[in-house]
Amino acid sequence: MKKYKVLNLYACLGGNRYKWNEVAEQADIELEVTAVEWDEELAKLYQERFINDIVIVADAHQYLLDHYKEFDFIWSSPPCPTHSIVNFFLNAQGVIRYPDMSLWQEIIFLNHFFKGKFCIENVKSYYEPMFNPKKIGRHYFWSNFLIPYIEVEKNTIGRMNGKNQTASKKTKEERNAVNSDLGKHIFQIALGLQKENKSTQLELL
Ligand SMILES: C[S@@+](CC[C@H](N)C(=O)[O-])C[C@H]1O[C@@H](n2cnc3c(N)ncnc32)[C@H](O)[C@@H]1O
Repeated sequence: MKKYKVLNLYACLGGNRYKWNEVAEQADIELEVTAVEWDEELAKLYQERFINDIVIVADAHQYLLDHYKEFDFIWSSPPCPTHSIVNFFLNAQGVIRYPDMSLWQEIIFLNHFFKGKFCIENVKSYYEPMFNPKKIGRHYFWSNFLIPYIEVEKNTIGRMNGKNQTASKKTKEERNAVNSDLGKHIFQIALGLQKENKSTQLELL
């Protein structure tokens, strides 16, 4: 069975990764996921959910530079606080800050130097994005393959385990998580299990 090595950066609780084993089974590959999260407590919780993943407590931005060549597929979810539309409100409240450019650094870097497939995710930003993203739900996606649009039910975004939780019962990490069906959909496309749809082409390509 072919080994397929995936890097899951800024892993948090792994909403995006939740259904990747199902996809690996479909594709008949041996999946090896390396997850990078710098918060020790979150890394521990991630490891409890995905016991076979390699979990590394480190700076994901630096880890990408040092290790990108070792992987077939890279998913990255750089932190969204400095990009989200909440910054309009925060600025008015005296939180004065720049958007974190590591998001754009990773997109440019992977798009030019990475030979495998990648997907970078963030929330919709308060400014016009530097590169046009694919918009699904409340998220932006940049990738070097075509991601067909899918409908994601609003109240299931961030749902970790299929349980029907209400927004008020979710933790911050669950609210920030990528919908696991969306994570599955994108991973299926990356592995060639669904046809890429030219009409939904990303401008990055
Ligand atoms: C938006 S969450 C990722 C959500 C995840 N993709 C999911 O679907 O569940 C971002 C995570 O990145 C972590 N983080 C932020 N900066 C980091 C860094 N430089 N290196 C590693 N982890 C970082 C945060 O602790 C947080 O858990």
